[in-house]
Amino acid sequence: MRFSENFIQEVVDRTDIEELIGRYVELKRSGANLVGRCPFHSEKTPSFSVSPTKKMFFCFGCHAGGTVITFVQKAENLDFPDAVEYLANRAGLPLPKESEQNYGNTGVSRKRVLEMNLEAAKFFRACLFDSQLGAEGMKYFHEDRGLSVATVKHFGLGFAPNSFNLLTDHMHRLGYTDEELIAACLCGKSQKTGRAYDYFRNRVMFPIIDPSGNVVAFGGRVMDDSKPKYLNSADTPAFKKSKQLFALNFAKNCCAEKMILCEGYMDVIALHAAGFEYAVATLGTAITPEHARIFSKYTQKVIISYDSDDAGQNAANKAMKILGEVGMDVRVLKLSGAKDPDEYIKQFGAEKFRQVLEQSKTGFDHKSERILSKYDLSVGSDKIKASGEICALIAEYWSAVEREVYLSQASTLLGLPVEVLKNSVEQIRRKQARAYEAKQSREAQASVKNFGDRINPDAAKDPRAASAEETVLGLLLIFEEYRNSVDSGETELTEVDFVTDFHRRVFAAIMRMHRSEGGLRHELFGMEFSPDEMGRIEKTEVARQQLSKNGPEVFRSAVRVLKDARKQESVKSGSLDERIAYLREKQAKLHKGKADQK
Ligand code: UTP
Ligand code: MN
Repeated sequence: MRFSENFIQEVVDRTDIEELIGRYVELKRSGANLVGRCPFHSEKTPSFSVSPTKKMFFCFGCHAGGTVITFVQKAENLDFPDAVEYLANRAGLPLPKESEQNYGNTGVSRKRVLEMNLEAAKFFRACLFDSQLGAEGMKYFHEDRGLSVATVKHFGLGFAPNSFNLLTDHMHRLGYTDEELIAACLCGKSQKTGRAYDYFRNRVMFPIIDPSGNVVAFGGRVMDDSKPKYLNSADTPAFKKSKQLFALNFAKNCCAEKMILCEGYMDVIALHAAGFEYAVATLGTAITPEHARIFSKYTQKVIISYDSDDAGQNAANKAMKILGEVGMDVRVLKLSGAKDPDEYIKQFGAEKFRQVLEQSKTGFDHKSERILSKYDLSVGSDKIKASGEICALIAEYWSAVEREVYLSQASTLLGLPVEVLKNSVEQIRRKQARAYEAKQSREAQASVKNFGDRINPDAAKDPRAASAEETVLGLLLIFEEYRNSVDSGETELTEVDFVTDFHRRVFAAIMRMHRSEGGLRHELFGMEFSPDEMGRIEKTEVARQQLSKNGPEVFRSAVRVLKDARKQESVKSGSLDERIAYLREKQAKLHKGKADQK
């Protein structure tokens, strides 16, 4: 383990949970807690709760939960030591010496990768502006793509020369090793010699800069028609492409009430150069829910401006759905006469694009137009199909007001009475509701049996014992009295009394911490439990807190259930004599009970 328990505790003590989580989620006060919309699943009503006093968070919807460290692990996709390092840096705590070298699987830290990227970006830029080395790259940007020098400089564009070692040698001189360069994805590793070689060669380079101004990755484009057209950094300790947007570093400062989402680097650059500095793009991937949450941090409205071909339009439909799920106002542009925003601006100019932008369509208008364009409404069978598709589209809207508005639009478009369409929409919704309920009840049944419990798969073996274990653990987590009682032996309870492996581990961790100097500290669970497991531990505690009966009798009876379960378990696997002895004892107890009643 890289960090001492003391250091971890200090990091947590120095972190303001409200401020930390407040950067991801809009939090509102609700009694002693703060509530907001969960950043880990899509939801419209807030079920995410933060306790500033306990320094814990918990989502009642998706059961994510834990400490500030767990939060950073999940939100920034870091492992436990990296999340500790992240928070330590934020709090201005110097890291203990030896921890600086180690990082994740690669042994290279995020900080080190960012340093290397910055040096590489400077190198690529210097190459581009070198009259010999960069002539071809500069010509491409200028003549082929029409970019001004100011735009090239603004985006920090560069050029990777056609060489296997220029960058590698340069970085070696700066003190970076082969392993580090490979971990940063600036170099590939030669199969033959195992040595590093320049990953980006003979390409114009686009640095990808995060909102804090770090160069996190690169994209490189060929200057002809060879393949692959763009080469992008793979994920590194400093970069996850499903979480980055190109040019967000500029767009976030634009204070626009909207952002434009495009497909490509060049679209974004052309838009910025034309004055639309609120354009961003994903990095060669479809938009993810993680991207959608990033948008929701910076803006209310996203206008999707994808390529005008079918692939682009289908991708736009998917993007609409994902952005809509985080409550974003989503519009779509349909550009005609050009294949993408970059070409459109070149062909028709910025003013024309601004006009189109102002007429951007809502998701419904865009989708219904696409449906109608497929059919000839003067043909009966076509009209039936079109109505069916449009009703299915309207049925997807949760808000009754939205459905009313679109029904009346659809009635005009299709030339059919509103009532007829409305009946059809309601029929689709009823059918969907039935399917949803069936699915829910299947899931509920499965969870009763604890089937598919990834975190505690053993629970299926003995649900009654597993639930007693939850009671015991919940009480141990909340009340020191119970921990004392186990510790002193007043309550006889040890690890062997636990039926499920996960609960046994939690129990062991609780008691170990209880006996240690610092006492029970949730952040230390993170050293041995994954973020998912942290969520389960927090759920166990929260579920208990919500119950009013937490007295000693509840604790004792749950412990009794465990003892009994264990006895049955050992009897099942024991000899015949043991089994008979167990049955005798049980019978005696029953007799005694009856006698007591008399
Ligand atoms: P496009 O092929 O639409 O490229 O890919 P483009 O933006 O029009 O590029 P230009 O105008 O020809 O230069 C859109 C985006 O998809 C990713 C890149 O991020 C690109 O900007 N992409 C495309 C890749 O990652 N790899 C590829 O080989 C192609
Ligand atoms: Mn293009």
